[in-house]
Amino acid sequence: MRIVRTVAELRALLDDERRAGRTVGLVPTMGYFHEGHASLMRRARDACDVVVVSLFVNPTQFDDPADLVAYPRDEARDASVAAVAGVAYLFAPEPAEIYPPGFATSVTVARVTEPMEGAQRGPGHFRGVATVVAKLFNIVQPHAAFFGQKDAQQALVVRRMARDLDFRLRVEVCPTVREPDGLAMSSRNVRLDADARRRAVALARGLEAARSRVLDGATNAVDVVATGRDAMRALDVEPEYFEVVSADTLEPVDPLAGELLVAVAARVGGVRLIDNVLVDAG
Ligand code: PAJ
Repeated sequence: MRIVRTVAELRALLDDERRAGRTVGLVPTMGYFHEGHASLMRRARDACDVVVVSLFVNPTQFDDPADLVAYPRDEARDASVAAVAGVAYLFAPEPAEIYPPGFATSVTVARVTEPMEGAQRGPGHFRGVATVVAKLFNIVQPHAAFFGQKDAQQALVVRRMARDLDFRLRVEVCPTVREPDGLAMSSRNVRLDADARRRAVALARGLEAARSRVLDGATNAVDVVATGRDAMRALDVEPEYFEVVSADTLEPVDPLAGELLVAVAARVGGVRLIDNVLVDAG
């Protein structure tokens, strides 16, 4: 596996790969790899000839400067995880390579960016995500790009942007990888102390309780949300939001029917966590 620092070098390498007839898969990341990231890399390796992983802690998508500073980093360990997963190129640029002086352009996606994470973190978050992902799509020009269902709203934003701006690639969304107790894997989980780690399972428990309620025939979102919130409170965790919405548009559905997204965010021991499940309400 080769570590690449500049756009020019990566483009030259990938031009050669494409000339040789190889397909290119991209997995965008902010590093500190866990099994969720590795599962995306392996999926990309199965689907494409050459896998590029980008490792860039994108400053423009952090609404909280303290969160950016506290974001965990370990490039050497990440490089070995990526190599084992069959990655060909780890693109790990400095911020100035991505945002040179004078940088003045951003990508704004309307509607799907507005509820949930957009409402909590402000419009800058998904603007930062969409802009850096658009740049990565243009730099790498992959045949396919791989994202995790863990960040369901982000995946919808990326799909919308790719469609609206005619990016010629396939966006594939891969299942959420969980710890044995159900906690969704996240680079932020290392910041949970022992008590917070024990209570962090509240998100998965709340989502499971809500899902069961839908599958038992509940058609009112308010009832389903109350069930989910109660399950979380049993572990002394208060959600920032708990929503049951259309999985395609993130808009309210009343009565509940079709493909639903149940999504939650909560601070546990000072660490902000998100999780979600899809439920087919028939
Ligand atoms: P990051 O949080 O590093 O996540 C990189 C990719 O891994 C995302 O597509 C995310 O959804 C996926 N992922 C994270 N945890 C997962 C889990 N437990 N199971 C499956 N997939 C998981 O998301 C970002 O970085 C950034 O916003 C980025 C898209 C790179 C733009 O900066």
